[in-house]
Amino acid sequence: MPTAIDISSLNEELATAKPRKILTAALSQYDNIAISFSGAEDVVLIDMAYKINKNVKVFSLDTGRLHPETYQFIDTVRKHYGISIDVIYPEPAPVEALVKAKGLFSFYEDGHQECCGVRKVAPLRRHLGTLDAWITGQRKDQSPSTRSEVPVVQVDNAFGTADHPLVKFNPLAAWSSAEVWAYIRAFEVPYNPLHERGFVSIGCEPCTRSTLPNQHEREGRWWWEEATQKECGLHAPAKEE
Ligand code: ADX
Ligand code: SF4
Repeated sequence: MPTAIDISSLNEELATAKPRKILTAALSQYDNIAISFSGAEDVVLIDMAYKINKNVKVFSLDTGRLHPETYQFIDTVRKHYGISIDVIYPEPAPVEALVKAKGLFSFYEDGHQECCGVRKVAPLRRHLGTLDAWITGQRKDQSPSTRSEVPVVQVDNAFGTADHPLVKFNPLAAWSSAEVWAYIRAFEVPYNPLHERGFVSIGCEPCTRSTLPNQHEREGRWWWEEATQKECGLHAPAKEE
C-alpha cells in the first residue's frame, strides 16, 4: 500500500490522466477499495471500473430520503452489471432522535448539516472504517465555490486516522459534465431517469430540485442555503496535517 508521501507523487503523476487510467491505478494499488455511488451520473465510474475489474466493490448510502427513481436506478445498475452493491443504512437511534426532536424537515429551518450528519456522514464514516481507499465521482466543475481544488488522489484526513489511514480517489475531478454525458451516451450506460426531467445533480428528494437552463447544477441542491454551504460533510476538505 502506498504511503502518505507516495500519494502526493501519485497525484502529480495522474494529475492530467484520463479517468480510466486513474481508476486502473486505484484498483491496482488497492484491493480493499470501493466506489461510492450516489445513484446519479457517477454511474460512469462503475462502467469504467467494471471494464477493468468485474469484482469492483460499490456502495451507496441510503439516507432513507432518496427519490424512488434513485432506488430503482441503484437496482437497475446492480442488475445491469451483475454486481452486488453494499447499501449502507444509518443507525436508527440518531435518526429517530432527530426526527422526534425536530420533525422530518428540520433541514429547511436550521440547515442540512444535522440531518446529513446522521443520515450520510456517520454511516459513511462507519463504512469507510472497513476500507483502505474509496473512489468518488466528485468533479471540480460541480461547484466553483467548494470543489475547484478537488485533486485526483488525496490522503483522506477527514475520515482516515493515524491508525487507519484512508486514501480517496476522484477520477472524474478534471472532467466536465459534458464529458461525463458524452461517455454515458457513447457507451450506452444506464442513467437515472430523473436526468430526463431537468435534474442535473441528484441527492435526497427533499433537498434536490430540477434546474432551469443555464442555472448551475448545484443550485438544485439545498437551494435555500448559500452556495458556500452546499457540502454535506461527505467531502469535507481534508484537514491540514
Ligand atoms: S454531495 O456531498 O453533494 O451529496 P454529490 O451528490 O455532489 O455529493 O456527489 C459527489 C460524490 O459523492 C458522488 O459521485 C459519490 O461518489 C458520493 N456520494 C454522494 N452521495 C452519495 C450516496 N448517497 N451514496 C454514496 N456516495 C455518494
Ligand atoms: Fe437529510 Fe437533506 Fe442531507 Fe438527505 S440531503 S441527509 S434529507 S439534509
